Amino acid sequence: MPSVTTHQSLLAEAKPGPRALRRVPDDWVDEPYARFTVRPLAPTIGAEIIGVDLAQPIGDALFADVRRALLEWKVIFFRDQAIEPSDQVRFAQQWGDLEEHPFLPAGTSADVVRFEKGKRMKGYENVWHSDVTWRECPALGSILCAREVPEFGGDTLFADMAAAYDDLSADERAEIDGLHAVHDFAPTFGALLDANQMAEMRARFPEVEHPVVRTHPETWRRALFGNAAFTTRVVGLDADGSRALLARLYRQAAVPEFQCRWKWRAGDLAMWDNRAVQHYACSDYAPARRVMERVAVVGDRPI
Ligand code: SIN
Repeated sequence: MPSVTTHQSLLAEAKPGPRALRRVPDDWVDEPYARFTVRPLAPTIGAEIIGVDLAQPIGDALFADVRRALLEWKVIFFRDQAIEPSDQVRFAQQWGDLEEHPFLPAGTSADVVRFEKGKRMKGYENVWHSDVTWRECPALGSILCAREVPEFGGDTLFADMAAAYDDLSADERAEIDGLHAVHDFAPTFGALLDANQMAEMRARFPEVEHPVVRTHPETWRRALFGNAAFTTRVVGLDADGSRALLARLYRQAAVPEFQCRWKWRAGDLAMWDNRAVQHYACSDYAPARRVMERVAVVGDRPI
């Protein structure tokens, strides 16, 4: 039986009560959208964009509004898009250079990752993470299209890591501002490699240090940046201290008020700001099939 003191400290850590839910920076000019409708999914994260057809090239003015929507909502969803991978690539190229993923299977071209899950290969992205943080410059964002979906299950959840940072106490923020952590592909993708492949990949992707609190290069908001898939330790802390701190920070992604959840239909497309969110793909549909295609845009070095 936990003692009363243990119970009280666990309850205090859970911080029941209202949350500070800030969607955009305080000085943000929050203008209405004229070119499409925005349907929010949650107070700070996630919006469906209604009235945009990504099968057609989108012009500069519309693209500027879509970019603003991504910055404001961190993950945006477009329902029922009749698009080919080439349309997805064209949309992605409007954001910047495209990434090739060295470990995941490619689809119709090297910059399209194809996830085919079902009876044989079960979903394994059910851990909170940001994409490719083991790179020196992790992705700016990822664009995911559902090609085949199970009748139920296979939802993806997204967590607003700026809201998660805001929710920390001033003492907690002071403790982590300025800390760095090591990110590494080896504990996850390393399991797929033989010794030669591992040596080659290690040479291409050495362990990399990123700030534990990242400042977004466009909104200038601070957000928690470590993740359970790829962050291996906090620089300057011993193993126990590092583990305890990371576990505490990871719990922030699991707070429902900072999350939204998307129930996919075939043809849906989501784009998330990988600098601002973590995501979690539910692995609850096997043996049903779930086929997704992802294109990622190269980002900058976290500051
Ligand atoms: C991913 O982790 O990028 C895949 C997300 C998903 O399949 O929902």
